[in-house]
Amino acid sequence: MIVDKEFVIGTVDPRLYGSFIEHVGRAVYGGIYEPGHPEADERGFRRDVIALVRELRVPIVRYPGGNFVSGYEWEDGVGPAAARKRRLDLAWAAVETNEVGTNEFASWAEKVGAEVMMAVNLGTRGPADARNLIEYCNHPGGTYWSDLRRSHGYEAPHKFKTWCLGNEMDGPWQIGGKTADEYGRAAVETAKLMKWVDPSIELVACGSSMRDMPTFGQWEDTVLDHTYDQVDYLSLHAYYGNRKDDTASFVAKTLEMDDYIHSVIAVCDYAKAKKRSKKTMMLSFDEWNVWYHSADADRQIERWTIAPPRIEDAYTLEDAIVVGCMIISLLKRADRIRMACIAQLVNVIAPIMTANGGDAWRQTIFYPYMHASLYGRGVSLKPIIRSPKYDSAAYTDVPYLESAAVYDEESEQLTIFAVNRDLKEGLEVEADLRQFAGYRIAEHLVLDGPDPKARNTEVQPLRVTPHAGGSSELRDGRLRTILPKLSWNVIRLT
Ligand code: AHR
Repeated sequence: MIVDKEFVIGTVDPRLYGSFIEHVGRAVYGGIYEPGHPEADERGFRRDVIALVRELRVPIVRYPGGNFVSGYEWEDGVGPAAARKRRLDLAWAAVETNEVGTNEFASWAEKVGAEVMMAVNLGTRGPADARNLIEYCNHPGGTYWSDLRRSHGYEAPHKFKTWCLGNEMDGPWQIGGKTADEYGRAAVETAKLMKWVDPSIELVACGSSMRDMPTFGQWEDTVLDHTYDQVDYLSLHAYYGNRKDDTASFVAKTLEMDDYIHSVIAVCDYAKAKKRSKKTMMLSFDEWNVWYHSADADRQIERWTIAPPRIEDAYTLEDAIVVGCMIISLLKRADRIRMACIAQLVNVIAPIMTANGGDAWRQTIFYPYMHASLYGRGVSLKPIIRSPKYDSAAYTDVPYLESAAVYDEESEQLTIFAVNRDLKEGLEVEADLRQFAGYRIAEHLVLDGPDPKARNTEVQPLRVTPHAGGSSELRDGRLRTILPKLSWNVIRLT
C-alpha cells in the first residue's frame, strides 16, 4: 500500500458521520426518551444514552423519518403535552403518542451536540405544509407559525439547515409513494417555497431506496431533470445482510456499495451535462447499515402497540467488519458524499441499545463508527493498494485488504483504517508512507475475536470491544503490520 499526502480525494465533511432517529420501535420512546427511568433528566431524556451518543461525536441526526415521515403531521408533535393527539402510524403499524416532537427533538440534539437534518412529508402532504413547518422552525417571529413556536416556549428559531424532501418516494411500501415525475414535480415546488422562506437551507432530493429498485438510474435521472437547480444533494440508501450465512460474500458486499456510489455520481454528472450546469450535485448517503437479524422477530409484533421492539438487530463481530467496510466506501468518495447517516442510532438497527428501565450498552458496530467519527476527520487520501484477492459464492476478485487513510493537517495526524476480509489468516501489510517518515505510531486499535458471531448483550456488554494490541511498526517511512483475520484496524500516526 502507498499513502501519499498528494493523493487527495477530498476534505471529509464531518457530516459523513451522521446518524438517524426515526419514530419507529423504541428509537424515541424507550430509547432517547424514557421519563421515569432512573437516568432520565428533567425532560425525560435518558442521560446514559446522551453520554453514549456524545462518545460517538455525532455531528448531525436525521429526523423524524424514514417511512414514518410520509404520514406525519408535524403539528401533532408541538404545543402543550396534554393536547397531543395519539395517531395511527401506518408506516410501522404502531400507535404514535406524539409526546416527543420537533421542539423536544431539537432540545435533545442540542444536548448531544448534533445538528438536526429534518425531513418533510411528501407522502400525504406537499409544499404548503413544508412551507409552514420551515416557517415554524426557522423564521425568527412576527408571523403566525413563528409566533406559534414562540408561544410553545421556543423563542429562538431552531435554524435547521439541512432538509430532506420526503423519504424513499420510489418505494411501493411508502405512504403516498410516487412515480419519478410525480415526485420530481412535488419536490421542486416544495424546494422553491422552502428556500423562499429561508434561503440559507440545503435540500436533499430522494434518490432510489436501494440499488436493486427496478427504476434505479432512471429514477435519479428524472428526479434530477426536475430538481437539479433547486436541490443540493441526492440521497442513497443501502442495507446489507448475511441471510445465507456466507460470510466471505457478506464482507464483500461493499464492492456493490462502491459501484452504487459510482453509478449515482455518473447519473448526477449526466444530469449536469444535459443542463450545461456549473453546479456539481453532492450526495447524501442518509441511510446505511447492516439490517437483517430482526426480520423474523418483527413478524411477531402486534399491530397498533406503542413503541414495540421493532428492527432491533443484535449485531455480531462480522457485522461490525461490514460496517467498517461501509465507512471505508464512504471515505473513498468523500469528494462527492458530503453527508451520511448510519441508520439508526438507538435500539432500531443501532449502535446503542437500551433495556426499558434498564441499562444502555454499545453494540459491536458502535466501535468502527466511533473510530471513524473521532479519527476520520481531515483530508481523505487515496491509498494505492495491491492486495491478494479471493472469490466467494457471490463475488469474484475480492481484495482481502480494504483501506482508507485520513490526514488531519491541523494536528498533523494520519489515520489508516483497514479491514482484513480473510476469515482464516492474518494479512501481512507493508505500507510506503513517504512523507510520514518522522511519525510514530500512536496506537493500533483492533476489533477482532475468535467468534465472528459474537455479540454484546445487556448481560455481556463487553464481549466484543476493541483493544490496542495491533502489531504495527514504522521504520524509515515504511509501516509493517499484520492485520488479524477478520478484523477492523485503526492505525494512528502522529
Ligand atoms: O431505517 C429503517 C427504514 O429503512 C426507514 O424508515 C426507511 O427509510 C428505510 O426503508
